[in-house]
Amino acid sequence: MARNQLVFLRNGKRVELADVGANETLLDYLRLRERVCGTKEGCNEGDCGACTVSLGAMRDGKLVYEPVNACIRLLGTVDGCDVITVDDLAIQNRDGGEELHPVQQAMVDHHGSQCGFCTPGFVMALFSLYHAGVKPDRQTVNDWVAGNLCRCTGYRPIADAALSAISGKAKDALSRRKAKTLKALTEMMDGEDLFVGTKERFFAAPASVASLAALCATHPDATIVSGATDVGLWITKQLRDLPKMIFTGRATGFDEVKASRDHVRIGAGATYAQAFDALASIDPDIGEVVRRIGSRQVRASGTVGGNVANGSPIGDTPPMLIALDAELELLKGRKKRTMPIEKFFIAYGKQDRAPGELVSALTVPKLKKNQHFRAYKISKRFDQDISAVMAAFRLAVEKGKVSEARIAFGGMAATPKRASNAEKALTGIAIGDEVAWAKAAEAMAKDYTPLTDMRASADYRLKVAQNLLMKALHEIASGNDSDSRIVGIREAAQ
Ligand SMILES: Cc1cc2nc3c(=O)[nH]c(=O)nc-3n(C[C@H](O)[C@H](O)[C@H](O)COP(=O)(O)OP(=O)(O)OC[C@H]3O[C@@H](n4cnc5c(N)ncnc54)[C@H](O)[C@@H]3O)c2cc1C
Ligand code: FES
Ligand code: FES
Repeated sequence: MARNQLVFLRNGKRVELADVGANETLLDYLRLRERVCGTKEGCNEGDCGACTVSLGAMRDGKLVYEPVNACIRLLGTVDGCDVITVDDLAIQNRDGGEELHPVQQAMVDHHGSQCGFCTPGFVMALFSLYHAGVKPDRQTVNDWVAGNLCRCTGYRPIADAALSAISGKAKDALSRRKAKTLKALTEMMDGEDLFVGTKERFFAAPASVASLAALCATHPDATIVSGATDVGLWITKQLRDLPKMIFTGRATGFDEVKASRDHVRIGAGATYAQAFDALASIDPDIGEVVRRIGSRQVRASGTVGGNVANGSPIGDTPPMLIALDAELELLKGRKKRTMPIEKFFIAYGKQDRAPGELVSALTVPKLKKNQHFRAYKISKRFDQDISAVMAAFRLAVEKGKVSEARIAFGGMAATPKRASNAEKALTGIAIGDEVAWAKAAEAMAKDYTPLTDMRASADYRLKVAQNLLMKALHEIASGNDSDSRIVGIREAAQ
């Protein structure tokens, strides 16, 4: 028997909910049901951060708080979490007055708020950083608030507030009740499947991979949801009614990330935040691209598996995974199959995935000694923006010659796609042969017929793609493979 109530913590108290809408967002629950309205609705699509709340969850026996966008996070996905909103932060002091949280007080002291609409979201992003156990520098603060927009105060006073309040050691009401929270969250990890609703309309969160796969196979018409950073927008922006929702995020082991000598295996349920270290360990460029996917909020919910499964031609990870020759694993019921990831993307909106079949894992080969990798994301804004063009290159060089070239682009065709003509033109050339580079760039014009859209024109896209090829070749030929790239990414990821 599955559990038929959602269970989570609010202000240290256990909440049990039997009526959970399949499409209900956490923000609607907070504002419309609890009537706790400090958390704001700005864009309702994960872009502005006004709705940021902090979710505490158990990770490898540790309690971790992460910022998420409540507007697109589905209520059912907070099962087993500690839900903290801006309304929960101030406490009553001994005189019966109100004492602000250190982050809130610093925002007051540094004049970090004018109209105040964005402030709850900034406070909750910074509250999550306050509990991350790091003493941040300005770059780290900027990274943590890249998903929060402020249109009147400006960002310097907010960053100043963060730098003055956050020391890496949390001393607040939440840290004082940590032992109790840990106990309560551990009790919630009951290993039971969650199924709220009826056969026709439900929110389900199976607790094991076997029951997740079985339920998806039984309901091939259900929506599989992981971080909901795409699915959430189908609800809030396209106003779609998705009556059957199956959440992957509670299935034990589905988010496992494992590195061996030759490869990294990423469970499809791993969020970007969980997969970051393993991906960045393959090459620093991968870390830098992943660090620029959405915002901290998006990366705390969104998964690599979801990025692949949605089949978008402008997703950031598929070109890198194709260039690295990653293997995709799919699971339907008990039947597992694997394929080279590039074969998964058949046409626009069409992937090689049967109804009820899960994307279950990715196996990404590590680079061999003679292989060189580069990845570049081109977008209008540096952070929190979708790519106009996303490029990834893996070149093998032996005795000064290119022995193998794998090049893949996003934003250049209806699917993420390899540049087979450019690859052919590069194979066998001397790595420093600039005349041959130019021929390969010319050949790329036969690989792609990009579109013109709001992100870029077709001409721009092709020119940028050709220039990125030249950039990769320059960098690889000059032997600039190392430490400056690696240090840069480590600092930013802190
Ligand atoms: C503000 C914002 C910024 C963003 N920025 C970027 C960006 O910079 N780069 C980028 O690439 N993307 C970006 N995205 C898009 C999105 O975050 C990614 O595509 C993300 O990886 C989706 O993962 P998810 O877990 O949230 O997927 P979901 O939204 O849960 O699902 C996405 C799709 O995959 C399916 N699905 C999910 N998991 C599985 C599974 N295991 N098996 C089978 N099907 C599955 C769902 O049914 C759905 O079709 C952004 C989104 C937002 C809201
Ligand atoms: S309301 Fe803008 S990110 Fe949620
Ligand atoms: S204070 Fe007005 S939007 Fe930030």
